[in-house]
Amino acid sequence: MERDILDVEEHIDDDESQLRPQSFDEYVGQSHLKDNLKVFVGAAKLRDESLDHVLLYGPPGLGKTTMSMIIANEMGTHLKMTTGPSIEKTGDLVAILTSLDPGDVLFIDEIHRLNKVVEEILYPAMEDFCVDVVIGKEASTRSIRIDLPPFTLVGATTRAGDLSAPLRDRFGIVSKLEYYNQEELTKIIHRTSQVYHIPMEESAKSELAKRSRGTPRIANRLFRRVRDFAQYNGDETITKERTVEALQRLKVDELGLDDVDHKYLLGIIQRFQGGPVGLEAIAASIGEEPMTLEDVYEPYLLQTGLIKRTPRGRVVTEMAYQHFHIIKES
Ligand SMILES: Nc1ncnc2c1ncn2[C@@H]1O[C@H](COP(=O)(O)OP(=O)(O)O)[C@@H](O)[C@H]1O
Ligand SMILES: [Mg+2]
Repeated sequence: MERDILDVEEHIDDDESQLRPQSFDEYVGQSHLKDNLKVFVGAAKLRDESLDHVLLYGPPGLGKTTMSMIIANEMGTHLKMTTGPSIEKTGDLVAILTSLDPGDVLFIDEIHRLNKVVEEILYPAMEDFCVDVVIGKEASTRSIRIDLPPFTLVGATTRAGDLSAPLRDRFGIVSKLEYYNQEELTKIIHRTSQVYHIPMEESAKSELAKRSRGTPRIANRLFRRVRDFAQYNGDETITKERTVEALQRLKVDELGLDDVDHKYLLGIIQRFQGGPVGLEAIAASIGEEPMTLEDVYEPYLLQTGLIKRTPRGRVVTEMAYQHFHIIKES
């Protein structure tokens, strides 16, 4: 299946849309980003202007798409969603831009995957709300300028480093989304259990929060699986025991690490004596894409302190050895 198709499905996934918070107040955590956005949105509304362009970056599942929807809601405007790789020709982007109404929010997911020619259309669009298009053939070609309504571009990416400087510089608001702490995840799980009308013991909520990799999408996904185990067994409330049992069956450990994390860490320990080892070498040895490891898996392992990045490559820490009860050979 094509990746783009998957991306689109992510946005219309029913389970996810049901759980998405609709306003700043419902959106848990990321208080730095949220508090600033509240001011910028409030001020833009007072001036009756569109909000400045916003770039959100960080690992998948932390709430970038959700935040773009909330920005449009709070601005009282419409949201148009697309993804970098799905805009193939400049004409596609021009068509999207000219269809916007004043004040609309255009969300481009995976904006680091826009092709160069398309990206260049964005520069004048973001800066001066206009696009230059070339019309006619051969000797009679000429460029005409089309004015656009004022709009807000919200870009999301897992790799801010892959964005070209001219594009990055055109965002007035740039913010990194952080992993959620235990308390925030517990709040999110509490809300999910209310949305699904199935009660959950407090201790079960915190157990699930602990194992959700700091990521709301994972918390919600695991919640749905734990709910399956509970309902299948006729439980009226999700208990801590059932949660632990379900997570064990799903191979999610006490730190929230899954199969791929285990392969990654044990790979470095067993095949590379704990490192340092280059990303490409680990990826090849465990049959994963380097980019997936770097964008999806490593950020959490780094944050938890299970690995370190050194100039010579990745190194697992003492904590990783302890986690697997392996004694480090010296
Ligand atoms: N701050 C938050 N508060 C509550 N739920 C959240 C929050 N951030 C994300 N979620 C939940 O996690 C899911 C994934 O978020 P999403 O915005 O799609 O992440 P991203 O676009 O960064 O990959 C959403 O469906 C939403 O239910
Ligand atoms: Mg998203």
